[in-house]
Amino acid sequence: MTAPDSQQPLRVGVVGLGWAGETAIKAFTGLPGVEVIAAADPRPEQREKISKNYEIAHLHAEYEELVARDDLDIVSVATPTFLHAPVTIAALEHGKHVLCEKPIARSVAEGEAMVKAAIDHQRVLQVVFNHRRRGDVQVLKAYIDQGGLGRIYHAKAMWMRRSGIPQLGGWFTTREMAGGGPLIDLGVHILDMGLYLLNEPEVVAVSAATYAEIGTQGRGGRGDQLAGGAFEVEDLATAFIRLSNGITLQLEVSWAVYGKHGDDFGVALFGTDGGAEIDVVRYSWQDTLRIFTDTGGVPAEIRPQVVRGEGHAGVAREFIDVIRSGNWADHVGREGLRRTQIVEACYQSAQQGREVALVDRAGQL
Ligand SMILES: NC(=O)c1ccc[n+]([C@@H]2O[C@H](COP(=O)([O-])OP(=O)(O)OC[C@H]3O[C@@H](n4cnc5c(N)ncnc54)[C@H](O)[C@@H]3O)[C@@H](O)[C@H]2O)c1
Repeated sequence: MTAPDSQQPLRVGVVGLGWAGETAIKAFTGLPGVEVIAAADPRPEQREKISKNYEIAHLHAEYEELVARDDLDIVSVATPTFLHAPVTIAALEHGKHVLCEKPIARSVAEGEAMVKAAIDHQRVLQVVFNHRRRGDVQVLKAYIDQGGLGRIYHAKAMWMRRSGIPQLGGWFTTREMAGGGPLIDLGVHILDMGLYLLNEPEVVAVSAATYAEIGTQGRGGRGDQLAGGAFEVEDLATAFIRLSNGITLQLEVSWAVYGKHGDDFGVALFGTDGGAEIDVVRYSWQDTLRIFTDTGGVPAEIRPQVVRGEGHAGVAREFIDVIRSGNWADHVGREGLRRTQIVEACYQSAQQGREVALVDRAGQL
């Protein structure tokens, strides 16, 4: 493994030019010593939109052409989920470092093949978990690492939308393309936030249930519905997750449900010396963090003043730092694979109606 010459710009190609692809372009464009020089999407209207707003030298219809370019160091994968594995593996085989959108893939088998490709070709593979770069999460993480909550023994993580099925009838709601519904889409984000704050405990077992009650009636979309498409995935999932050292995590996610939340997410952590809650209402960032403690022997609440944080820009910066460091061996996508292992076990548990035990497959690679 050789760290790139820090005087040379790192050149990026972005595959998939929807919301996530444009966000990746903005994130990389803002970094010193990084240039986005290529982009790919089969839809001409997506390529036109991007070429109007950004100066990108090479636009391709086929991702195969982009990953084969010998003037690229990095490929950023922002396609529908069923293409994460083939695009990532092709890019790694061509010697590129890969930043792949969450979830790593539809299944553990696909994720494992991606991690193996990163190991075999000695390149960085990182999955985008942007919400952990929020200001409130970073402040809470520092508080936890200083021992502020004592030993955390129980946690909750949720992302609930009242009426927020993305592209109802499109790829998000087609099982073969997405791999699942809100559990694989929003669940991985919020699982990542929870496990990151809990300092990556091992997952021992999961017990989950999924429901498809609103989307199947053609309701619960965000106003971007496509006519006549399928709704083949769940619209609500709930899970009870057993972690190492007796810690438990309760997860609840929905794209559509009759309830009080519009589009809200957060975590709650319960420790021996304190508790904390991040409560994000419609992507708010101020006044989202509360810490519960005792002062002078009486219960007290702290509301830290937090900054907005970085999101995708922070993920891209960290990814570039890893590439420039040359220390790539611990950055081959294992974290992303672990999240997908939990999600897949939840789907199995829901289907079988019983608890499912887990063995860390990522650690074995
Ligand atoms: N990190 C986040 O916060 C976040 C947010 C939204 C989406 N995502 C993830 O990003 C990915 C894309 O989601 P989106 O919302 O941008 O979807 P989208 O449907 O808006 O965009 C996907 C784009 O990929 C293009 N595409 C399809 N086939 C392709 C191919 N063969 N080669 C190149 N491009 C192809 C489509 O034409 C489309 O423009 C998904 O995996 C999703 O889970 C992450």
